[in-house]
Amino acid sequence: MTNEPLSPADQKKLAARFAIDDLVARGEIANGMKLGLGTGSTAMPAVARLAELLRSGSLSGIRAVATSFQTTIACEELGIPVFSLNSREIGGCLDLAIDGADEITPDKRLIKGGGAALLLEKIVAYNAARFVIVADASKAVPSIGVKFPLPVEVVAEARVSATRSLERLGAEVRLREGVRKAGPVVTDNGNLILDCLWKPGTAGARPFDPDEMESLINAVAGVVENGLFTRNVPAVYIARADGSVDRR
Ligand code: 5RP
Repeated sequence: MTNEPLSPADQKKLAARFAIDDLVARGEIANGMKLGLGTGSTAMPAVARLAELLRSGSLSGIRAVATSFQTTIACEELGIPVFSLNSREIGGCLDLAIDGADEITPDKRLIKGGGAALLLEKIVAYNAARFVIVADASKAVPSIGVKFPLPVEVVAEARVSATRSLERLGAEVRLREGVRKAGPVVTDNGNLILDCLWKPGTAGARPFDPDEMESLINAVAGVVENGLFTRNVPAVYIARADGSVDRR
């Protein structure tokens, strides 16, 4: 009998649940910790597994910071206590943050923000002592910036000026449109998303250096944040179609 290859959705669940159990076994998630919880279809099963461990009493005293309305609602429904990063209970820093990603390079540079939650995701990730990514195999890529569009969150009034500046940095820029909503996506923070691709051969395009580009983009007036994550290098759990999980 041959085992069916796991679908991407099943790989996401496997990576998420495996990672939570492994982090608990290693003591990287422990009673009383302050955890940042990511957004998206891979982060959600991690949140669900955490809730299971809390319900069974295997874990206790966890204080969570959510990175989106999606995650806040999931925590409320699953009974995980959620706090503001600013609260006394959290004090602006976390023991560990766990999240999904859209693309991951071999040296663990990331694109995030496919779900438009990049701003809180980055604040949480960059204020966590440990950062962990869970993903299906499709997210591991040789290089970033050329296939999955990099999300850049901008204030609405800077839509046109920031588009011009990003084009000067070599990007092809598209305003993200809503689904089942007329007009653009409006983020949880009331901003817009410009999706940017650095197509090889684009006039004026420089070789895409994620570390440098993260700073260059954030220097554009009106840019709130971008989806390059280069500064808190994560542990990465990638699930494969054959049912194995690789920790890098
Ligand atoms: C949301 C994100 C997500 O983590 C990223 O888009 C991956 O999503 P998924 O796990 O659904 O594939 O950055 O802003």
